Amino acid sequence: MPSEKSIFLPNPDMARDCYVNSLKQYKEMYKKSIDNPEEFWGEISRDFHWETPIDFNRFFRYNFDITKGPVFTKWLDGATTNISYNLLDRNVQNGNGNKIAFYWEGNHPSNQKSITYAELLGEVCRFANVLKSKNVQKGDRVAVYMPMILEAIVTMLACTRIGAIHSLVFAGFSSDSFAERITDCKARVLVTADGAWRGEKLIKLKTICNQAMDICQQKGHTVDTCIVVSHLQRSVTPASAPKYETPMRDCRDIWWHDIVPKASTKCQPEWMDAEDPLFMLYTSGSTGKPKGVLHTTGGYLLYAATTFKYVFDYKPQDVYWCTADIGWITGHTYVVYGPLANAATSVIYEGTPFYPGNDRLWEIVDKYKVNQFYTAPTAIRALMKFGDDIVKKHDLSSLRILGSVGEPINPEAWLWYYKLIGKEKCSIVDTFWQTETGGHVLTPLPGVTPMKPGAASFPFFGVQPVLLDECGKEIKGEGEGYLVFSRPWPGLMRTLFNNHDRYETTYFSKFPGYYCTGDGARRDSDGYLWVTGRVDDMLNVSGHLMSTAEVESLLTEHKSVSEAAVVSKPHPIKGECLYCFITITEDAVYNDKLLTELKQLIRERIGPFAQPDVIQNAPALPKTRSGKIMRRILRKIAQNDKDIGDISTLADGGVVDLLFKTRPANA
Ligand code: PRX
Repeated sequence: MPSEKSIFLPNPDMARDCYVNSLKQYKEMYKKSIDNPEEFWGEISRDFHWETPIDFNRFFRYNFDITKGPVFTKWLDGATTNISYNLLDRNVQNGNGNKIAFYWEGNHPSNQKSITYAELLGEVCRFANVLKSKNVQKGDRVAVYMPMILEAIVTMLACTRIGAIHSLVFAGFSSDSFAERITDCKARVLVTADGAWRGEKLIKLKTICNQAMDICQQKGHTVDTCIVVSHLQRSVTPASAPKYETPMRDCRDIWWHDIVPKASTKCQPEWMDAEDPLFMLYTSGSTGKPKGVLHTTGGYLLYAATTFKYVFDYKPQDVYWCTADIGWITGHTYVVYGPLANAATSVIYEGTPFYPGNDRLWEIVDKYKVNQFYTAPTAIRALMKFGDDIVKKHDLSSLRILGSVGEPINPEAWLWYYKLIGKEKCSIVDTFWQTETGGHVLTPLPGVTPMKPGAASFPFFGVQPVLLDECGKEIKGEGEGYLVFSRPWPGLMRTLFNNHDRYETTYFSKFPGYYCTGDGARRDSDGYLWVTGRVDDMLNVSGHLMSTAEVESLLTEHKSVSEAAVVSKPHPIKGECLYCFITITEDAVYNDKLLTELKQLIRERIGPFAQPDVIQNAPALPKTRSGKIMRRILRKIAQNDKDIGDISTLADGGVVDLLFKTRPANA
């Protein structure tokens, strides 16, 4: 297995043609981005349209030091623009009107479609006019719960056309989670589809939305318009498909096809201040309550465009494919905004990697001759187990760049990706970033950075990473510590929706003067950065970030559970999985029925992806004398690692032995 010392040099044939083609050039550009951000980003901004020009006297201002006043970041303040105008009208005017923006590949291989830039512009304007007719105005939030279909992208861009803030929720979240998010952002309009097939499973999206809207109503918030794409009738369905009558309600629910085709394909863009909100996206918070991360217009546009261009080295003839769902930040920045800002042609895929066969992803790469392929380590690990032959059936020679995102990539998966998918000629870009960062912040550059499997390597332009020890002292050179950033780049979030206090406490209070990622990282002797994982009570299951507190509070809602503690355990495919310890009430029984009920509770209240792998009966939990649960010890028990270190602060040492002895058979 490769180690920290293993270095894979980029393919020299490829390096020659890359935008950045040497480490020297990277270092010069990086230095300029840090020393002179006005000049660096100012040059990039010239590629885009600004209705009110940029004022270079107030190009960039910020305060990261909470002890010196409110934390804020502003880029290009006072300039006005519209993001849909830059992504669509500008590209059409530049001669890309007939260029394919997206190839859509449905769940079933015979479902496919494509849309050009000019067509996309027309559809976006149509839907923008529909939203206006429903009285959606600048600054209003629009909730979106969609499968991977073109209308999802049309909806996002239509919101930006009129200055509305889209708030997408991944369509794997339960109705409870969705309702919590709709109520928090007070969206009055919801856009969804009747349903979607994932493999042979029907996801009844509209039913989930109805439940969510009912919950909102009970909490005192009303969604007054729900626009529904009729997607199922155009989808090829499995022979055994059950019948599904879409539950529609008069007055509130409208079919997309009843209103959108009648709307005009012209819609004047709303000129937005560079610092006006663009979209919000919820991410898990360590207290259990999701945080509405808010991104603004000008800086995000520049950052999405620039990271996409350089990290994927996108050239005008390329076909790019990111497998992320649009309900996550990767789907926002690297399915929609970054590619369209570069007039790219992308593939979007509705289904799963395993349908109809376990080679579907490779079949799609071959079919569209994909040049850049961007996915998550969990998908790579899941596909590795089907062996090499199924991959070798397909011609993957078009691939030039392979991306990884969402969690640390383990060396076995990296090597498989590099050798079998990339045939040892592709660059792998292991991109570290977060919902909050808007775009890549640590990443190798293709053709340039010598690759170390598992290292996110070096900062992107404008990004200044620092490692701090527990006392906030900077670790220079080799070492491991908290990964923080000492200044903003244009794509950094600006606040948490309606909760600036929480923004300041979560990200800026631990180390005044720095944006705190919540991740740990190590710098090796060559200066490479390796992200080591979360340092807070968050865990990452198949690239989905979750808080242990969220799951714990749900478990204790069950009448048979008096106390619960949740930790992460390494998992061969998901990266991490949930390992739960529960203390049951005196009259309760720990049996299969209880376990099924608890798993069901979590599936229903958060979503299927959050289902725990192990639930252990814990008559007591290891606690300090002051009553704090010692999660460090629980993590060791979950991993059956008896090397538990110092337990002198434990109130009752006997608990630990008992928990080791009673680990369930499936642990
Ligand atoms: O822990 C890091 C991990 O995913 C977290 C961010 O999750 P989210 O906001 O959902 O965004 C995911 C997609 C950008 C981070 O705090 N993470 C993300 N990418 C990597 C990673 N950990 C290691 N290496 C990565 N490349």
